[in-house]
This record gives sequence, structure tokens and C-alpha cells, in this order.
Amino acid sequence: MKNVKLKTTFLSALLVTSSLYMAPAGVFEPAKAVAAPGQSAAAFDQKVINRISADRMYEDVYHLTETIGPRVAGTPAEKETADFIKERLLSYGYDVEIQEFAISDTVLGHLQTDAGNEVLVNVPAGSAATADTGLTASLYDGGLGYPEDFSTEAVGKIALISRGGIPFAEKVNNAYAAGAVGVLIYNNIDQPGPINPSLGSAAVQIPVGGITKASGEALLADVEAVGGNVTLTVSAIENATSQNIIATRTPKKGGGDGIVHVTAHYDSVPFAAGASDNASGTATALEIARVLKSYPIDEEVRFAFVGAEEIGLVGSRYYVSQLSQDEISRSIGNFNMDMVGTSWENATAIYMNTLDGQPNIVSETAAATGKRIGTPSELILYQRGASDHVPFYEAGIAAVNFIRREPGTANLEPYYHTPLDTIEFVSAERLKEAGDLVGASVYQLIKK
Ligand code: BES
Ligand code: ZN
Repeated sequence: MKNVKLKTTFLSALLVTSSLYMAPAGVFEPAKAVAAPGQSAAAFDQKVINRISADRMYEDVYHLTETIGPRVAGTPAEKETADFIKERLLSYGYDVEIQEFAISDTVLGHLQTDAGNEVLVNVPAGSAATADTGLTASLYDGGLGYPEDFSTEAVGKIALISRGGIPFAEKVNNAYAAGAVGVLIYNNIDQPGPINPSLGSAAVQIPVGGITKASGEALLADVEAVGGNVTLTVSAIENATSQNIIATRTPKKGGGDGIVHVTAHYDSVPFAAGASDNASGTATALEIARVLKSYPIDEEVRFAFVGAEEIGLVGSRYYVSQLSQDEISRSIGNFNMDMVGTSWENATAIYMNTLDGQPNIVSETAAATGKRIGTPSELILYQRGASDHVPFYEAGIAAVNFIRREPGTANLEPYYHTPLDTIEFVSAERLKEAGDLVGASVYQLIKK
């Protein structure tokens, strides 16, 4: 149960009078109601938004996506990103803690043709691994992967099989029974990223990869023309770790005892540079941290840059699991930014996703801030999980995920989780909009 002391007449009035705000009884109790002398909420907003730099955020998105690239949980690229974030926060003068945690074993693939072309490949859980040097073999056209699609020619080859007809695991088992040493499954519909040919709970004897329809067709043409030699490498990531980077600022003596948590995940899915998802949120949180560092505060603020979100909110779950009961009860709220910078023209709204679809202190503070500062985008309250605000909600902490979507349909940009999620489709203006909105909102809750 939270018993948070706030000190602005503005916010107290908002919470008492707003018909939208529906706090569970007893959870939120504004106690102090003393306005900072001579300064209005709008003046505090300006202190923040005058300094939030669109260029700096855009440069950070560039670094995360073009210099580093995909930042898959447990990989060296994710670790490099963590180091970058840590160094940056230290340079801003924060106390920084690295919180390391274990992640489940997984498999990562790499596929190259004889001609040296790289083909994007997804390896499903349950695939066998290859030697470090990979498995080099010629391809065999395995049709849809029915038993009758294989002849003795398949022995010792990598079977190239189309999606469709029977489950992926059955295709792989048929190929294995026919003597194939590996399987590549290609999509039968055009999708931007390679398919993940999920094997369900089945573990198979040979390495398996999923590729796009276009890649499959190109490799099939190679089989006919030159026999199609490829090298498939499947490496097991075992006993891997990921990490959260936490920057904390505590008020000087005499302040309140509340805590505001600002979160953004910095990992990505494979093959995606993760520019919108979620270099955008990472860069925005870094910029808010920079700006808020220099102002006096009366409540604690923690910036948690979390890893391993894309494999099941692992970092944020770990972060929340490490909060003591006392810290949970002192928590005012969680501002989570995930996908705040897409330039997709239909994503004209900033959605505020809460788990129950109900407003809370975070969404109400942001709604009021948006009105004061004139946020150009419509702010829409919406019921949705699927990001790092979930563990906060589950712990009883008011939490919102800020995310750009198309109003009405709630559609995400079409580049989501594809290799097209690059800086080309990130808007500096929209990063600025999110930075202003969330930065000024957080400041309202922690300012002196
Ligand atoms: N940023 C995304 C997606 C997302 C979609 C967030 C809609 C909030 C609302 C997030 O990184 C993601 O991909 N989440 C996963 C679920 C998660 C538990 C692995 C998803 O939506 O598939
Ligand atoms: Zn995301």
C-alpha cells in the first residue's frame, strides 16, 4: 500500500477533483499540499522542456542502432549497450548500479551462402547446435517436408522446406529420417523478417533455421543453378546473463520518501536494430535523466534501463523483485517508455497503456502535463501489457507504458520487430514530444 506524500496544490487538487482518477481505496493519500513559492506547474515544465534536446536523443538512437545494431538479450551487443548507458549516466553524475541476472538458455543462428552472402535466419528453441565452425552442406529441395518429398539424394544435405501443410517439427523429423543433416524452413508468405519455425516442446536431432520466402526462393534457385552450398551455424547461448542499469537520485534531507521509477528496455529482437523498439525509449530516458540531474528534488527518482525485455520482461521483473516491501510502498509510480519515436505517419497518438485500462497517478499527471505544455499528439488511455510496466502493476505500483500508435485501431508501425525497425523511421520531433511529456511529468512528481 502506498502512502505517498506530494507537495503541489496542483497535483493534490487534480487527484481529488478529477473524475477520471480512480485510485483503489487507501492506495494513494496526498498528504502535503504546499505550493513551491512563486513557481507554477507551468514554470516547472519549462525548466525541463527548454533543455530536452531532440538532437541528443536522435544521436543516441543512431549510436544504439547504427553503431551497435541488434541488441539481443545475453549477447555482447546487449552488454556493449549496457556499458554505453552506464558510462553516460556516470558522466551525468548519477550513482549507477549494474544489476546482473541470469537468462534462459537460447540458440542463435547465422547463415551464409557459398558466395559469402549473409541470409537472416531465426533458430527455434529445441534446435540442435552446430560446431563453432558451422555446418557446411549443399541444399536439397525438400518440398513441403512430407516423407515422400525426400529421396536418397537428401542424405548429408541441408533440406530446404517450405512452410505449410504439416507442423515444423514434423518436417524436421521427416528430413532427419531421410538422412538430412540440417533443415531450413522458408516462409510461404511475404513477411519482412525470417520466420521462427517453432518446434513447440519437441527437441530435434539436427539444426533448424527459419528464413523469409524471398531467401528461400533465392536459395532454391541456387540449388538448381550451382547446387547451393550453405554454412549454417547454430550456437547455443548457455548460462548467459543480462543486466539492468540503474541510476538513482535521492533528495537531500527533509524531502519526501516517495520513489518514481522511469524505465525503458534497451534490448531488441534479433535482426532488428530496434530503433523504435526501443532505442527510442532508451534515448528519451537518458535525456530526461540528464535534464533532471541538475534540479533540486524532494522525492527519489530511479532510471532503470532494463535488459531482456524481448524474451519476457525478464529485466523489469528482476528489478521489481529486488525492491523491498518498503521501497514498493514508497513507490509513487512507473513511467515506462517503449516505442515512443516512430515516424510512421498513422501513429499520431501517444497511448498510455495501463494493465487495467484505468487511469492512475502516472497517466493523470501526464494528461495534465500534456494539456499544460500543449503536447501536439492526442493522449489515449488504453488497456495493454506486453512491456516493462507489467511487473510494476503486479507489485501494486501505478504504471504506464507510453507508446506511439494509430488512434482508433491502436496499430503499431509496420516495421515493428522487423529488420526495417531502423533510424530511417524514427522522428526527432516525436522523441522530443515524448521527452517533454514524460520529463515534465516526472518532474512534477519529484520537484522540490
Ligand atoms: N515494444 C514491444 C511491444 C509492445 C506492444 C509493447 C504493445 C506494448 C504494447 C515489446 O518490446 C514487445 O515486443 N513485447 C512483447 C511481449 C513481451 C512480454 C516479450 C510482445 O508484445 O510480443
Ligand atoms: Zn519494446
